[in-house]
Amino acid sequence: MARILVTGGTGYIGSHTVVCLMEQGYDVVIVDNLSNSNVEVLDGIERIVGRRPDFENIDCLDYTNMDRLFARYSDIEAVIHFAASKAVGESVEKPLLYYRNNLGSLINLLELMMAHGVKNIVFSSSCTVYGQPDANHLPVDETAPIQKALSPYGNTKQVNEEIIQDTCHSNANLHATILRYFNPIGAHPSAEIGELPNGIPNNLLPFVTQTAAGLRECLRVFGDDYNTPDGSCIRDYIYVMDLAKAHVKAVERMLSGAPTEQVEIFNLGTGRGLSVLEILRTFIKVTGVHLKYEIVGRREGDIEQVWAKPDKANTVLGWKADTPVEEVLMSAWNWEKKLRGIE
Ligand code: UFG
Repeated sequence: MARILVTGGTGYIGSHTVVCLMEQGYDVVIVDNLSNSNVEVLDGIERIVGRRPDFENIDCLDYTNMDRLFARYSDIEAVIHFAASKAVGESVEKPLLYYRNNLGSLINLLELMMAHGVKNIVFSSSCTVYGQPDANHLPVDETAPIQKALSPYGNTKQVNEEIIQDTCHSNANLHATILRYFNPIGAHPSAEIGELPNGIPNNLLPFVTQTAAGLRECLRVFGDDYNTPDGSCIRDYIYVMDLAKAHVKAVERMLSGAPTEQVEIFNLGTGRGLSVLEILRTFIKVTGVHLKYEIVGRREGDIEQVWAKPDKANTVLGWKADTPVEEVLMSAWNWEKKLRGIE
């Protein structure tokens, strides 16, 4: 079976994807510098799959060691590139760190792939590239206009997409699949792996589960005066395991030579938008855990509403995100309970 290089493979989406790849029989080598993840994730993966992925503690910015890695694993057939800095607020404080990490890593990878004859890359992008789509572009499909990024983080995703397009344009042998994720949530059903945010979570679900677990006193709902049915923001929350499976489909498609374009782009979402308040109410209902929350002012830079039109991924990749949100929220809670030793 083919070997896949997964950068950022001990991270949140990366680790779930590694599980799905290995369960399909792929050999995986993870490259991760553990800057925002934990080496024990490898134990979780091994407990789920029954095999341990190869792991190399290397920073993708380290060209020399990445070059050695490609030489050592000469059978790599595709790269899935997750490794990146991803905190929107931090990127505003430290733009150069974000530009260096996120652009430098991709540039190194593409150069090394070409030098070592690796022809396929799957890139982690984000619905952030669409900004706030116009009403006539909701739900948002892949043809919706790209809008000026609201943060350096968002800009790195846009520029990385352009770097991939330009590099593929210059080299007919290179193929890319760009996956634009909506809002990934949840954890593996075994609760062996899940999201491990550093410090105070920025994202909604980890804040919800940490509040439910008693680590945070009160969840703040950022705004109930948006132009949405209940006034809170709307997102397309996608189960991380469904998202992981889309990566396996993308790799299969590339390795079978099926892509019709050198760079294929897919939106990965459920097609359904849920408000912050709907998420909270559903969480409380399915877990039975009371959660204290208060409505506060809007968070700067938040988009009012965005959800995906995932038809292209549904038909072309033959993939659908169909796990019920109740099950997804329960998986997030089970993971948090296991982390905190809650019965
Ligand atoms: N929210 C709260 N309270 C919180 C945290 C979040 O009300 O404590 C709300 C936000 O205001 C937003 C929704 O929950 O309405 C989702 O917020 P997240 O931070 O979980 O997700 P975002 O949609 O803001 O961020 C996601 C990705 C980023 C990406 C961004 C682009 O996590 O990587 O989309 O819009 F850049």
